[in-house]
Amino acid sequence: MRVPLELRRAYKLLNHGPTTLVTSAAHGRTNVMAAAWAMPLDFEPPKVAVVIAESTLTRELVDASGEFTLCVPTRAQLEQVYAVGSVTGREEDKWALYGLKAAPASRVKAPLVEGCVGWLECRVLPEPDVQRKYDLFIAEVVAAWVEDSVWKNGSFDFEGAEEHRSVHHVAGGLFFTTGERVRARGTGKE
Ligand SMILES: Cc1cc2nc3c(=O)[nH]c(=O)nc-3n(C[C@H](O)[C@H](O)[C@H](O)COP(=O)(O)O)c2cc1C
Repeated sequence: MRVPLELRRAYKLLNHGPTTLVTSAAHGRTNVMAAAWAMPLDFEPPKVAVVIAESTLTRELVDASGEFTLCVPTRAQLEQVYAVGSVTGREEDKWALYGLKAAPASRVKAPLVEGCVGWLECRVLPEPDVQRKYDLFIAEVVAAWVEDSVWKNGSFDFEGAEEHRSVHHVAGGLFFTTGERVRARGTGKE
């Protein structure tokens, strides 16, 4: 079940480097694309950075709305992740074409992708130069959600939930899934 996550913990949805789905909404339509180049940028208020290439429909919709979501998809969604990262939504409705379901977000118009394990609702912090030069968007996270069945003691735990593991793109459709959870002993100073 999707449950709200405190904003100060939102960075934990991205800290392990998953490939994300970026959703957007403007001009009376919504869209979804894959983005591997997404990262947390700050704790509180939480911020993220994501590369959204100039050629994409997503870029057009994010430029128009100033909003997007980052969703953390799972191994079960691998084919859909690769497909929405390989085809543009300019001529196709990728939601219908690849069987992805949208759910309303709470603070932004861009929808959440059902079946993911983490969701971040984001508002662009305008940096026109950086956006134009590097296709890099910095945004504040205004709401965050997590799938509670894989969230234990304040972080993801995919033990026994193989199909819920997040995915990490290498290149050309080759991915890793999130692996073993291990904890450092620590220095005793933290
Ligand atoms: C696994 C994967 C990761 C990707 N990561 C990014 C990314 O970080 N930034 C980006 O601009 N495009 C990325 N892409 C490419 C876009 O998803 C692709 O151009 C997509 O078709 C754009 O869709 P749109 O035109 O409907 O917005 C990625 C593609 C794949 C398959």
